[in-house]
Amino acid sequence: MQEQFLDQHRNGFHRGFTIWFTGLSGAGKSTLSEMLLKRLKNAGARVELLDGDVVRTNLSKGLGFSKEDRDINIRRIGFVCDLLSRNGVIAIGAAISPYREIRDEIRAKVTNFVEVYVECPIPVLAERDVKGLYKKALAGEIKQFTGVSDPYEPPVNPEVICHTDRETAEESAEKIWAKLKELRLIEFD
Ligand code: ADX
Repeated sequence: MQEQFLDQHRNGFHRGFTIWFTGLSGAGKSTLSEMLLKRLKNAGARVELLDGDVVRTNLSKGLGFSKEDRDINIRRIGFVCDLLSRNGVIAIGAAISPYREIRDEIRAKVTNFVEVYVECPIPVLAERDVKGLYKKALAGEIKQFTGVSDPYEPPVNPEVICHTDRETAEESAEKIWAKLKELRLIEFD
């Protein structure tokens, strides 16, 4: 990990870094990233969240779900995360980012990259089906749906794995927080 200037706050300090959430739709990336965003903001950190669903309404508007379009989407999010991280801001990226090669490409570029694999078995996701997309994907109504009719390549060596089918969101968030402390990326009271 690259050494960087510190951002000093009342309660402690943080470095610039990127937390990258990857995992299937509905696994809990948005929930966990928003919890982390809130906790970091409360601690006084400078932090931005780039969520796939939101980015696709502006920066990546018009992109679809082919491999080419997903790669463009992920590279854009990675590019912005890098700009922020290298200027001492905490960037949180939360997108399915199904392809290992592209995630590793971003890891190689970004200052202090922390990958969080948000893992949940497909049967559980299909059961939860918060957005009703798995039902449609399993019925063949949505083509190229990640985990059903399109690939997802899990990370080989992520810094954190959250098993959202058997951990509470609070437990998962705490694991991530502990890892950030262990890596000395944050030091808050
Ligand atoms: S990524 O593959 O480019 O990383 P991203 O995280 O931005 O995906 O967007 C995923 C979200 O788009 C899902 O949570 C879901 O709501 C929606 N979506 C629509 N079509 C698909 C599809 N074919 N595969 C996966 N997600 C889809």
